[in-house]
This record gives sequence, C-alpha cells and structure tokens, in this order.
Amino acid sequence: MRDGYLRFEPSIEQSRPDEPEIIKTIVESIGRTNVSSFAKWHRAIRQQHAKGHGFLRGELKIYDDLPDHLRQGMFATPRSYPIIVRLSTAFGDIRSDRIRVPRGMAIKVLGVKGPKALPDDYSSNQDFLLVNHKSYFSDAADYLSAQRIFEWQPTLPDFVLRALGLVSRGWVKLGVRSRWPILQLANALGDGGNNILGEAFYSEGALRYGDYVARLSASPVSESVLTLTGRPCNKDDNALLSSVVEFFSKNEAEYELRAQLCTDLQRTPIEDASIDWPEEVSPYQPVAKIVLPPQAADNPARRAYADDSLSFSPWRCLADHQPLGSIMRLRKEAYSASAAFRQSKTPITEPQSISEFPD
Ligand code: HEM
Repeated sequence: MRDGYLRFEPSIEQSRPDEPEIIKTIVESIGRTNVSSFAKWHRAIRQQHAKGHGFLRGELKIYDDLPDHLRQGMFATPRSYPIIVRLSTAFGDIRSDRIRVPRGMAIKVLGVKGPKALPDDYSSNQDFLLVNHKSYFSDAADYLSAQRIFEWQPTLPDFVLRALGLVSRGWVKLGVRSRWPILQLANALGDGGNNILGEAFYSEGALRYGDYVARLSASPVSESVLTLTGRPCNKDDNALLSSVVEFFSKNEAEYELRAQLCTDLQRTPIEDASIDWPEEVSPYQPVAKIVLPPQAADNPARRAYADDSLSFSPWRCLADHQPLGSIMRLRKEAYSASAAFRQSKTPITEPQSISEFPD
C-alpha cells in the first residue's frame, strides 16, 4: 500500500456461504419476469433498463499523461477507441418518463485487446454500465428482497409509482437513508427527474483496476451538457428521448471518465455496494474523455439494433477490470440469463466494428 491505495488480490472478495443459493433464487425470478414481460409487450425486453432514451456512437480518448496508479488495464495505453452508448431508465418495463427512477448510461468500448475475465467472452469489447446514483443495494441477499418487488412491479399502474415517487422525494429531501431494502427502493424512486444528459453516472459497485480496485464515474464536462445539470425533464411520457434527440441534432457532448480507487476495505468496501466511498478519502481521478458528436440519436434502425440486438454486461470485460463484490458476482448470472432469454426471441449480436452500428 505504498501509495495509499489497496492492491488487488483475489482474497479481497469474501462471499457468504449461501450466496450461490441466493443468486439462484434471484435468477429464477428474473426468468419468470422475462416470461411475464414478453406476454405483456410481445417483445423480449431487458429485465432492467428496458426503455432506451438515445443510441449514440462516439469515442473514448484515454488521457496520455496519467500517473502510474491510473495507467492500468485498458487505461495503460493512451489511445482512442470507438464506443456505442445506450441511455436508459432502470425499470425492467416501458414506463412514462414522468416516473423518476434511476437513469443509465451503458458504454461499449470496441477493439480492446487483452485477456478477458470470462473464458467464453470471445469479443474484444469492454462494457461499462453506469447509473446516476452513487450507491446500491448492499449485496445479493439485500437485492433479493427488492427482486421480489421488481417481479410484481409491472402490474402496478403508473400513477401508483408516481405517488410513491412523490413520497420518496420528500424522504430524500429529509436526507433519510436506510439499510432496509424497501426504503432503499424509495431512494431510487426519489430520483431528481432531470435531463439525462446533465447527469453524472456511477458504477456503484467495484471493479478491478489493474493492480488496484476502483469505482468509476462519467461526469458531464462540456458546457453543452453542464448547462443541463439539474434541469427538470419529466413533463411528458417520452421527454428524455425527445430532449436527447433534440440535443444531438446540433450539439456535441463530452463526459469525463474517472476512477475512484479503493484505499481500504473499511472506508471503501467492496462487498457492500450501499456505502458511498467518501471523496475526501479517495477522489474521483480523470482517466479518459467520452466524446459524442452531433448525430441522429434515434431512428428505427438504431433503436432496433441497440434495444433488441445488443447486450451490455459488466462481465464483458478484461480480466484487469473484473467486477468485484457480492452485487457484481450476482450480475454475472443475471445479465447472461436476461440476455439468453432475449436471444431466444431475437438474435443478439456483439459488434466487431463500429461500422455495424447503424447511421
Ligand atoms: C452495481 C449496480 C448496477 C448498475 C450500475 C447497473 C446498470 C445497468 C445498466 C446501465 C443497464 C442497461 C444496459 C443496456 O443498456 O443494455 C443494466 C441492465 C441490466 N441490469 Fe443492471 N445494474 C446494476 C445492478 C444490477 C443487478 C444487481 C442486477 C440483477 C441481479 C441487474 C440486472 C440487470 C439486467 C437483467 C439488465 C438487462 C440485461 C440484458 O437483458 O441485456 N443489474 N444494468
């Protein structure tokens, strides 16, 4: 720990003995939800982040002046990569944008060379999945309680979720935080409902960062998107997509990818994703820029490709960026189960070149 950061080694992960059983129960529930949403929508939608709000191509530019502790994994070499970005809302259902729940930014980096975390990952792509909240359910056991609610959420009408959102925002304003999963859900329903392009996005869980361990974030840095931070965008059912399409018809957006390194397992824990890693203990440090030029952020070909043919997974990654901790181990099984169901209805592809992304 010469530089104050914890070194990665496999023993830093500690799972409880019943974790495989808990994960199995969650994955079975995801399977049932896949089937019931297919019956509802006649389409195999994602079991989370089903609604897309923009489908973008761009570039990830790794900074060339990184210090040694940040020059790790795919960030070791300063270069540019083509990327595909899908913006989304967390529900495993297609809901009105008036309901304020967490928003997602999934980034697929194409052509990243190096040993992969999973032996059956033959792609040369590296996915990063980020959400506009810093922390999450603590572990797989905690998530199980929420999954029971996610399974019956599609039966609730929008107005009930909006009413819950109103209560939740009061709750968040009062600064009440709870370790009880249902109340953590209230935190999620207390999302600000702001323009998705002005948001900062976080990995929430930890991943290996070469010799170290990190959480990642993507924050708006160009004036074009900074001016959208905190601006409400929830006045109609598809307000987010309309604002994204309108924005990219004229503007470029820039975000900065940053790494927050783990210092120790007490203040920056790996197994408990509900704890914010304090920035005074470990700040987010810039590693790369995401540049999204003006473009048509939505059209039928892009939508079909990104919503139905693509999949993103935190486990499609280099061994150097292997996800860590209970929530992340759970995600290994969950994403492949959801994508396998979708694959059984519509072919899923993994791009080898950015030219496969429709114009
Ligand atoms: C660390 C916290 C998490 C973050 C930041 C996160 C983020 C995301 C994002 C951004 C997407 C959309 C990907 C896309 O556009 O295709 C997504 C999809 C998904 N997430 Fe998560 N997620 C988290 C935790 C979980 C957990 C704990 C589960 C389940 C146990 C889960 C299950 C899923 C599923 C099933 C999909 C859809 C996969 C597909 O069908 O292709 N996520 N997640």
